[in-house]
Amino acid sequence: MSQTTDKPRILTGDTPTGALHLGHYVGSLENRVKMQDEYDCYFIIANVHALTTRADRTDEIHADTIEIVKDWISIGLDPRKSTFFLQSEVPAIAELTWYFAMLLGYGRLMKNPTIKDEIRVKGLTDQYSFGFLMYAVGQIADILAFKPACVPVGVDQVPHIEMTREIARRFNQTYCGVKGTVDDADHVKAGGVFPVPEAKVGRVGRLAGTDGQNKMSKSLGNAILLSDTPKAVQKKCNKIFTGRGSTDDPPVLEGNTVLEYLEIFHEDPDRVAELKGQYAASELFDGHLKKEVGEAINRLLDPVRERRAAITDADALDVIKEGTARANEVAEQTLWEAKKAANYGFFEREFNLK
Ligand code: TRP
Repeated sequence: MSQTTDKPRILTGDTPTGALHLGHYVGSLENRVKMQDEYDCYFIIANVHALTTRADRTDEIHADTIEIVKDWISIGLDPRKSTFFLQSEVPAIAELTWYFAMLLGYGRLMKNPTIKDEIRVKGLTDQYSFGFLMYAVGQIADILAFKPACVPVGVDQVPHIEMTREIARRFNQTYCGVKGTVDDADHVKAGGVFPVPEAKVGRVGRLAGTDGQNKMSKSLGNAILLSDTPKAVQKKCNKIFTGRGSTDDPPVLEGNTVLEYLEIFHEDPDRVAELKGQYAASELFDGHLKKEVGEAINRLLDPVRERRAAITDADALDVIKEGTARANEVAEQTLWEAKKAANYGFFEREFNLK
């Protein structure tokens, strides 16, 4: 019942933290667009995870949830091909989170470098909620509930996928009789409920922000948003870090964010090589490159803006309602299999969205 297609499945998604940006685009979104024909794609809107830092701002999270759907459709993800769904309305995920939490050591979780980084970068010190730590366990459930072959993500998410792989193995070994010697690729064949899914990192695993210092991130104010106007994009591009102290200094060729963006966003490699040569020879300067980068990014974003303008909030809600119903069919089935395997399968149930 859960397998409606023979295509291999992928699962990935985003936390609704405000509009998505170019870092999301080159890290994962672009990959998803390419994969949607060959894979049975499930895309999760992680609105429960958004509570980790904004439990007191649920109105914002609600609005950001709608924006993510618009972002996805506008960059070319097609809800007729793929399933878009809402984490908070798939209860099987919350239930699997409990079972997985019992298989994951607290010390192991605290060694997860993404968790450690977030605590540091967001200045959480020891003030984070219990739920903040739970989100990483929840992400394991987001993924395994859909038994995907692969999870396309940015590099910062790879530690979460690594933990997911460990838990899939441990569950299969603890409850399904899968031997410790079985290869990751053979877990299901050996009787495991869960596959051991692989991470797939995008073309640019980590995109620097316009400040050139940190990873692009909306909260750090160094992000170019997919929903920015052409003018806003150019304005942000004019501030991109080039490494040059004063206009009299020679051009900096390593660690210059404008050059990086040119490579990443300009569609014509010959033009990029030409610009780089002229820049290195001081025949053109920072301002010129910033303008060309802004134009290239705007060429990328123009069709995105056009599609975005055509989507209403009601359309976005319809899309996730339909997708969430489908996602529940799959996740309920997985949960039932997992419970039976672990001898918790007391009563089968039916679950429907109204
Ligand atoms: N933590 C991811 C992020 O913030 C979002 C996410 C939640 C996710 N659940 C997931 C990504 C499952 C991949 C798979 O970007």
